[in-house]
Amino acid sequence: MPATKQPRPSTALAKVGKSQSKAGKHSVKSSKKPAPAKNSPRTAKSATKPVVRAAPAQRPTARSRVVLGLQWGDEGKGKVIDLLAKESEVVVRCQGGANAGHTVVVGGRKTVLHLLPSGVLHQGAACVIGNGVVLDPIALCQELDELAAGGCEAAPRLRISDRAHLVLPAHKALDAAIEAAKGASKVGTTLRGIGPCYIDKVARTGLRAGDLRNLATFERKARDLFAAANRQITALHAGTAIEVESAMGPLLQACRRIAPLVSDTAAFLHQAARDGSRFLFEGAQGVLLDVDFGTYPFVTSSNTGIGGVITGSGLSHKHFDEVIGVVKAYSTRVGSGPFPVELLDATGEALRQRGREFGATTGRPRRCGWLDLVAVGFACRLNGVDRIALTKLDILTGEREVPICVDYEVDGERLGTVPSRLDDLARAKPVWEVLPGWSESLAACRTIADLPAAARRYIETIQNRLEVPVGWIGVGPGRDEIIVI
Ligand code: GDP
Ligand code: IMO
Ligand code: MG
Repeated sequence: MPATKQPRPSTALAKVGKSQSKAGKHSVKSSKKPAPAKNSPRTAKSATKPVVRAAPAQRPTARSRVVLGLQWGDEGKGKVIDLLAKESEVVVRCQGGANAGHTVVVGGRKTVLHLLPSGVLHQGAACVIGNGVVLDPIALCQELDELAAGGCEAAPRLRISDRAHLVLPAHKALDAAIEAAKGASKVGTTLRGIGPCYIDKVARTGLRAGDLRNLATFERKARDLFAAANRQITALHAGTAIEVESAMGPLLQACRRIAPLVSDTAAFLHQAARDGSRFLFEGAQGVLLDVDFGTYPFVTSSNTGIGGVITGSGLSHKHFDEVIGVVKAYSTRVGSGPFPVELLDATGEALRQRGREFGATTGRPRRCGWLDLVAVGFACRLNGVDRIALTKLDILTGEREVPICVDYEVDGERLGTVPSRLDDLARAKPVWEVLPGWSESLAACRTIADLPAAARRYIETIQNRLEVPVGWIGVGPGRDEIIVI
């Protein structure tokens, strides 16, 4: 049981939200005069020929938002993206692949997106799968078909980057073999071929969507890649080698289908930026699964933060106006790796059942624990988060107390952040701030004032400790079950 600590006095929720909110930032930014040229105007004036070309006439600045998961994934990004997509013209996935499972619930109907951006359900939004994504052609075709069966035709609005790497069946077979070879120390991947595909990308041996322009050459290269993967699988003495002939048919069929959707999406985004389009960038996974800053090696193989959005889309940082961090009101994690706040008792099981914490991609039970603000604070600092979307607050209803982890202690020393070394994190003991719980259902709450006082205090504590305002509060899975501040 966590030790009770005195909570810090909290300020009024609305006050913190307003004073720190970046609301209005778009209009401020777009009305800004172009920055002065670096060389002094005097130098330019005194020269017969201008040394520096005149600044271009002011162009509309793209108004764009980035949505990132600030925990270990499954924070509820899909729901937040769906909500914000109605205010966006272009929705972009930038990293990860079909390891993602983003749930959107509209009118009681649940849709889980893996590769397609979650904004796809808004018919007006153009959807982009950026260059940083690792794209499984077969999985994408399945997803397109499932959506079409539900009445949503996504293909005409979808653009796939010609620079996006392709996940082939060989990558999935290799993923399984590498995991099997690791035995007890396995990462617990989603087995979607993500790691092996990124390995090929970095090793400069991968195949990209642009290679689909010439299917005969693509097939030859794919066969080479299959053979290389099979050699590796044999060497690992684990997993099952891929049956090349039976795998090639469905792969080529899917590739033929998606080939017409492939184009230079960076050029498309640059033009859309010039036209003043509003963008929404959809992060996948969460910052604690980032290959650099996550709980390495128990991470995914991409940069899940703002860096991955830049390198995975081709748009410069100058176009990102607001970074929204999605935080679940408690913590979950799927797969292996240290998880200091994990609850291995009945409370953890109760959170899992109430929150339906079973993987949207693999169906695996998610490990559950109280909110970890050390991890979330780290994620905020790494990504310059402007506002928090707090999800699943309703799931905490019924808890007598709601502890929040506010620091880690290792060998009697307070760390104040997430340590890089796995053994330190594995030994980290949470320091708790214990807040009172509430028993009222939050399902019908649509304003802050509708929330019980204890729930408001929980939110205030989060934003005061993070020094980032909360802009949205999820009170149920449905599209409308949200408080917008
Ligand atoms: P993502 O990967 O971050 O998009 O999240 P997932 O879709 O994997 O998991 C989040 C789950 O929580 C989904 O089942 C959502 O429908 C659900 N969800 C999202 N927001 C809320 C909320 O505020 N309350 C409740 N009860 N469920 C929510
Ligand atoms: P969304 O976008 C939760 C986890 C896996 C595993 C590790 C590496 O729905 O939040 P990988 O297959 O990527 O090589 O697995 O990362 N993982 C996720 N956990 N949500 C996700 O995506 C995840 N994507 C990968 O469980 O621990
Ligand atoms: Mg998910």
